[in-house]
Amino acid sequence: MAGVTPLYNALKAYRDHRPLRLHMPGHGGIRLPGCLEWQAAAALDVTEIPGLDDLHQPQGVIAQAQEMLALAVGAETSLMLVNGASSGIHSLLLAMCDNAQVMIPRNAHRSFYGGLVISGAWPVYIPCRQDEELGLALTVTAPAVEEAWGNNPQVEALFITSPSYYGTCADIEALAVIAAGRGKPLMVDEAHGAHFPFHPDYPGTALDSGAAASVYGLHKTWPVFTQGACLNLGPGFTRHAALRTAHDLLTTTSPSYPLMVSIDLARAYMETYGREHLERARLLAAEYKPRVDSIPGLKCPQGEWLQMPGVTGLDPLKVLVGVPGLSLTGYQLDALLRREYRIQVEMAAENYILAMFSLWHERENWQHFYHALEEIAMRYPGNQRCRLSPVVPPAGEVVMSPRQAFFAAKRSLPLAECRNRVAGEMVAAYPPGIPCLVPGERISGEVWDYLQYLRETGAHIQGPEQPDLGRIVIID
Ligand SMILES: Cc1ncc(COP(=O)(O)O)c(C=O)c1O
Repeated sequence: MAGVTPLYNALKAYRDHRPLRLHMPGHGGIRLPGCLEWQAAAALDVTEIPGLDDLHQPQGVIAQAQEMLALAVGAETSLMLVNGASSGIHSLLLAMCDNAQVMIPRNAHRSFYGGLVISGAWPVYIPCRQDEELGLALTVTAPAVEEAWGNNPQVEALFITSPSYYGTCADIEALAVIAAGRGKPLMVDEAHGAHFPFHPDYPGTALDSGAAASVYGLHKTWPVFTQGACLNLGPGFTRHAALRTAHDLLTTTSPSYPLMVSIDLARAYMETYGREHLERARLLAAEYKPRVDSIPGLKCPQGEWLQMPGVTGLDPLKVLVGVPGLSLTGYQLDALLRREYRIQVEMAAENYILAMFSLWHERENWQHFYHALEEIAMRYPGNQRCRLSPVVPPAGEVVMSPRQAFFAAKRSLPLAECRNRVAGEMVAAYPPGIPCLVPGERISGEVWDYLQYLRETGAHIQGPEQPDLGRIVIID
């Protein structure tokens, strides 16, 4: 319901009433000298007092705000999350039975691994399709899921990521049919796709395509404060009681009202203005992405990703710029943009940068970005010799669940002695950000060769205690 903001209205009424605040939070809405920004936020920062409902037992304005949120995003039920999309992913995994097998993409966000540790579930990995040139994991495909499920018939749920960090969307309809054929739920980490419900020319939503549940990282694309997110349930979701308990267990007993209000306000805003802004943003992207792509030395993938099996849609607002024909790495391009053009992009890697445009960026912002790239490309022509990693080898045997691995005693060994050992830590090279090791997996010969390669090439690694891979944490 556009323009109606029950939670915000209740808070505003409380603030305007100017009560003597004898409750948490301790700051009581006081003024902090020297910080103008503090005051407005503090005035709305309250706690579960009469009239302001309780996220853990919503019956009043929070319940209404959640109902409106569900309506706006096409869900039967939506739960506000105050600890990011991560807590929605954790809650969904915890709501699965203990020891259940869950099928997830190998490049799933690290919150999945947190969820596996919390829940005790066992992962069955689906390999990802990659853009070989840029080294990016883009999607999982229906045939890969069929095959993995055929080999692991005990899998209780399919939990995929779509859109990817780079904006590529999976064939959710086909995946939902596969899951339904086995009577199991499809859940989707749709953290980067919360704007999709508001314009028909953006990719369809996971729930509309048959998913039982989806998680939105609202703060990524809505005007919502960082950490604001929501969990959306469709008619195919059945584990409501377990999910509510999990959400309760994993949510602070002091959820932030400013954060929840920002969700309430943003939902009303998106209903009223979302389509108009998304239309403008879509047209600007359609104009500027080909222009960036045509700058000598740069590459801005667009339609070609749609030719890749399994990719059914693209978020136009994710702008990935490869640097194959520059004498700069992506990291150097990122630094130049920051230093000389006051542009800060979302991420940089060896051979690309990723810019996230929003619904609110104007033509002049797109033009500034384009112009900066054009100038830099002219100054630094060349041939960026990308250190492309070989394809990440398939996961080794899962010897223990991530939870068992979490609690197991660990020690480190020189890499040379780690072949066939069980990993006690995660190792992922960026790009492509696909882990080659997850705690509890056996370090196969193939994985060991890959680790050796990463060590020799000085790849950018995340996860291990020793990022140069001199030693690896193992479990005996
Ligand atoms: C694909 C994906 N899923 C989940 C998350 C977790 O989101 P949050 O930071 O809101 O917890 C992220 C964060 O970047 C992400 O990229």
